[in-house]
Amino acid sequence: MNDHQKGADGKEIALEARAEKAARLFSPSAARNSHAIVAAWQDLMPSSATVLELGSGTGEHGVALTNAYDGLTWQPSDPDQASRHSISAWAAYTDHKRFAAPLALNACDPAWWSPLSSKDIIVSINMIHIAPFAAAQGLFEGASALLRSKGHLFLYGPFKRHGKTADSNLAFDQSLKSRDESWGVRDIDLELIPLAAQNGLKLQSTKEMPANNMCVVFEKD
Ligand SMILES: C[S@@+](CC[C@H](N)C(=O)[O-])C[C@H]1O[C@@H](n2cnc3c(N)ncnc32)[C@H](O)[C@@H]1O
Repeated sequence: MNDHQKGADGKEIALEARAEKAARLFSPSAARNSHAIVAAWQDLMPSSATVLELGSGTGEHGVALTNAYDGLTWQPSDPDQASRHSISAWAAYTDHKRFAAPLALNACDPAWWSPLSSKDIIVSINMIHIAPFAAAQGLFEGASALLRSKGHLFLYGPFKRHGKTADSNLAFDQSLKSRDESWGVRDIDLELIPLAAQNGLKLQSTKEMPANNMCVVFEKD
């Protein structure tokens, strides 16, 4: 087990201890939510697509989804070097070749999307609440730039709706803000739908998930 994972600046990037095996990191939260995300994908998303993921962490979600849906081709990324090390190890370990080696992408960087080719889907799981709001802004700007018409931005995590959410998410929001005041559980109606509109996307669907999480899908015009 490692400690709560920290980035190069010493900040926590994942609020959990992760096991490690031959450089592959194992996230306890990914072990809890991957099965439900794979099942939800079938209801919400196309099973054949080119996918770019921001904030891939250990890399396990992309591995689980590409294992489940053989029409998916997945480009993972993370700004954190230790996470990319794990993602590379998962890419080498995975039998198929549809889960690529990671890119070093940071959604807060200006025009982070500019070297990349267009995609059908952009995914970000448990990222925008544990990063400054600028990361959400950069994510939607990148989605606008990279997604093909009718492409999708798929988010997973805890969210608020019109300022309201489960008590456990409110407590989590407070704990995130006590670690870094720029972090926090984002509001679909008050923050994300306006951000989507500014970037030519609209809310397509939401799905309640275990432990007061949600899948949230936006579609590009
Ligand atoms: C809580 S972890 C989630 C990892 C993985 N998606 C999961 O659910 O297991 C948040 C991840 O977002 C990444 N991250 C933080 N700020 C980011 C940013 N501005 N752009 C892209 N990724 C970021 C972190 O390095 C970390 O790997």
